[in-house]
Amino acid sequence: MTHNELIATLPKAELHVHIEGTFEPELMFEIARRNQVDIPYTNVDDIRAAYNFHNLQSFLDIYYAGAAVLLHERDFYDLTRAYLLRCRKDNVTHTEIFFDPQTHTERGVAFETVINGIDRACRDAAQEWGISSRLIMCFLRHLSEESAFETLDRALPFHDKIIGVGLDSSEVGHPPSKFERVFAKAREHGFLAVAHAGEEGPPQYVYEALDLLKVARIDHGVRSEEDDALMQRLIDLQMPLTVCPLSNLKLSVVNHLSAHNLHRMLQRGVLVTVNSDDPAYFGGYVNQNFIELAEALDLSNEDIRMLCKNSFKASFISDAEKEAWYRRIDEIH
Ligand code: ADE
Ligand code: ZN
Repeated sequence: MTHNELIATLPKAELHVHIEGTFEPELMFEIARRNQVDIPYTNVDDIRAAYNFHNLQSFLDIYYAGAAVLLHERDFYDLTRAYLLRCRKDNVTHTEIFFDPQTHTERGVAFETVINGIDRACRDAAQEWGISSRLIMCFLRHLSEESAFETLDRALPFHDKIIGVGLDSSEVGHPPSKFERVFAKAREHGFLAVAHAGEEGPPQYVYEALDLLKVARIDHGVRSEEDDALMQRLIDLQMPLTVCPLSNLKLSVVNHLSAHNLHRMLQRGVLVTVNSDDPAYFGGYVNQNFIELAEALDLSNEDIRMLCKNSFKASFISDAEKEAWYRRIDEIH
């Protein structure tokens, strides 16, 4: 089997995708028109032409502007359903989806509108297509600790729909330590914890995510390689890193995919996974990330198989479900 056939055929989990980052220009246009919201673009090509990012902040500015057309439960449903349809195409059989409540509540959209739209699309995809999912709500780290506490309070009535909390948005200058107390409270309530760290920020932020936020996974974490002791700790803990190759390329975390450290980390024994982050903005869903990475880093079929197994290993499904996916992967040749 060629690389691309194997990638297309293997079941996989996605563990790092922001639902607001799956907002394709076509749907953005349709929802903007439906809601009679003005956007500063005259057509879909115009939107795509604006996607020339050079770092995280230049991306985030456009990403938050795009999300501003989402107003009603139906909008969140349509957005999530479109992403889950892409999962079906890419053989993503399980997905753990981030959403950013504050991006919406700050604009006056109710928490319940957001969660109900996303959750209903997830339940429909489970029933119609057999795709399982979990939801993780992220605190925006450029906002205050107080705003994060308020968001946690708003989430409590919907705890049954949300498995964990995360931390995203502008990394540098907003260390995990800023959110130590709100993560402690979230964990007391039974939420699992993950955090973006070591994307643009230094290895110190990865240490803080582990030691202060007590995360179960690190999102990105690629800059951990700059610190040997940290690498050894990630290997010893088998702490998952949810890596996003095309995102790293588009946001200039790496200059070329051939310079990406994912393969090196995999070979050293780090539990790395491949994910799409914000696929509508970065030029590819999960399989495209696999395809371009396999080409740039000369990955073997065994590497690809291992990365797909890692995606389930690092997920929040049960051990029995994990074992069943490993067996499915072993059966495919
Ligand atoms: N929000 C959406 N994508 C993000 C990323 N790659 N880093 C931080 N915050 C984000
Ligand atoms: Zn991300």
